Amino acid sequence: MIILGIETSCDETAAAVTRGREVLSSVVYSQVAAHRPYGGVVPEIASRHHLEHLPGVMEEALSNAGLAWGELDAVAVTYGPGLATSLLIGLAAAKGLALRLARPIVAVNHLEAHLYSAFLEPDAPALDSVCPALALIVSGGHTCLLRVDGLGQYRLLGWTRDDAAGEAFDKGAALMGLGYPGGPAIDRVSTGGRADAVAFPRGRRPDRRGAESGLGPLDFSFSGLKTALLHHLKADPLAGRPGRLADVAASYQEAVVDALIQGVAEAVRRENLRTILVSGGVSLNRRLRARLAELASGLGCRLMLARPEYCADNAAMVAGLAGAGGGRVGWNDADACPGLSLGEDALD
Ligand code: KG4
Ligand code: ZN
Repeated sequence: MIILGIETSCDETAAAVTRGREVLSSVVYSQVAAHRPYGGVVPEIASRHHLEHLPGVMEEALSNAGLAWGELDAVAVTYGPGLATSLLIGLAAAKGLALRLARPIVAVNHLEAHLYSAFLEPDAPALDSVCPALALIVSGGHTCLLRVDGLGQYRLLGWTRDDAAGEAFDKGAALMGLGYPGGPAIDRVSTGGRADAVAFPRGRRPDRRGAESGLGPLDFSFSGLKTALLHHLKADPLAGRPGRLADVAASYQEAVVDALIQGVAEAVRRENLRTILVSGGVSLNRRLRARLAELASGLGCRLMLARPEYCADNAAMVAGLAGAGGGRVGWNDADACPGLSLGEDALD
């Protein structure tokens, strides 16, 4: 099966072609520069950029794969979750192409595509063979832990009740004057900083206050961390102290990473899982990757991280998932589902 994947759920305009397990091409047009002046993604700007750039990105993906339109067997497209007006551009393009070529559409859940991105390797095992597994999806818009029992079999174990981990990085970086997007900036300036310089809250709530706050044992909360940083910077400003910036950034990063690590460890133990799958833009974080490697070896689990080029939003994960039999095949009148979830219907 040769599949063209399309991804326009947020601020990356992406298309990719896969054949079986092989990624033949993957093109991502990042809109970061267009959104940077606003310090975050502006939905109207995102959809205009998708409209303008998607046709060229699709053509480039096809020509990089050395194929002609008629050689495609199906068109896979993200239908949610994401920004409604951005999802609609990808869906409209997919529908037009599928109609013209008389091919089926495979409608893909963006979260399931992220989860699958750890399998975009020619020699990766089949997803079913590494189950039961834990999936940690950490991006600018999502932070969740899922139990994976096979392709299409997911149970949501925990998620963030306020900011996503990437949002915590982006907002923290803005407070430290590091610009947007904040995750890569914090990752960079933390090098050489002391992670124990400032005792920030851990973004999870291991104590008895949890019952009152409504947080489950595997849920996350990052908004208090951001407020703690704000208060810290007011009391002890960074101005003109680059060494201090490294310490504060490293401590802040450690607080986010610690919360994620505690959540993963707890979920693996509770559910008795044997593989940890990690994906999403925040999984590019070097400290998180190192801590996950330590944790997995301590727990005797197999760790599968998405390749760096497939961590953030891309279309190879969309086409790849469809090629593996995931997504809703033949749903040619799929509509955008901005609030789509994954594994939630299986919640107790
Ligand atoms: O997966 P993604 O491209 O977008 C969403 O689907 O949301 O992830 C973007 C997020 C941003 O919040 C960005 O700051 C974060 O991933 N990010 C990082 C790093 N690289 C990107 N966070 C921490 N460390 C990084 N190295
Ligand atoms: Zn994403």
